[in-house]
Amino acid sequence: PTSPRINPSILAADFVNMQAELARIATADFAHVDVMDNHFVPNLTFGPQMVERIQATCPVPLDVHLMITGPDRWAPGYAELGAASVTFHLEAAADPVGLARRLRDIGARAGVAIKPGTAGEALYDVLGEFDQILVMTVEPGFGGQGFMPETMPKLRALVDEAARRGATPWFQVDGGISDATIEMAASAGADTFVAGSAVYGADDVEAAIMRLRDLARA
Ligand code: DX5
Ligand code: ZN
Repeated sequence: PTSPRINPSILAADFVNMQAELARIATADFAHVDVMDNHFVPNLTFGPQMVERIQATCPVPLDVHLMITGPDRWAPGYAELGAASVTFHLEAAADPVGLARRLRDIGARAGVAIKPGTAGEALYDVLGEFDQILVMTVEPGFGGQGFMPETMPKLRALVDEAARRGATPWFQVDGGISDATIEMAASAGADTFVAGSAVYGADDVEAAIMRLRDLARA
């Protein structure tokens, strides 16, 4: 199988030292960039202008996670500024398949995310339209929350359904991923792991990334 991908979430970084914080994750696979609008979630981060500067500065490609209302209108702009992947929430999108096709046309990987309370079945018929499926393992909005193991059967069912249909999206988990939880998510079929506090909270960021990757592979 492919090597597990570790995507540190810069939500846990020091925002006023962003250039140095990005340099710390040069051995990661992608930088996970949480865009929040204080409407889809009760928290606010940054928008396209900041993400464009992050993109220009970051040693690894960007994995943009949009926790915003109206992604049909805003998501393509993140693909245009050069994000490697753009993931929007199924709960917020008017036309998820149409939006995924637009993102792919621009040249980004198209991702769709579901909150812990959202059933996976709505994605079964359209799994082939996406490059990555993000199963949230906390309620979106904040870093540092506890991993929700009850989301694992939904992840497993999506992974199995994709295999049945010959679809090959990456399966991403986000929220509460640490040394203590990453193996559970890997055994449920995740191959791409977002980790905020577990990476940026470590004294040795590079070692933390390597350890997470090794645990996910086991
Ligand atoms: C939560 C964000 C996550 C967050 C994860 O809404 O989508 O990406 O940064 O942080 P940790 O790994 O600390 O749970
Ligand atoms: Zn995220």
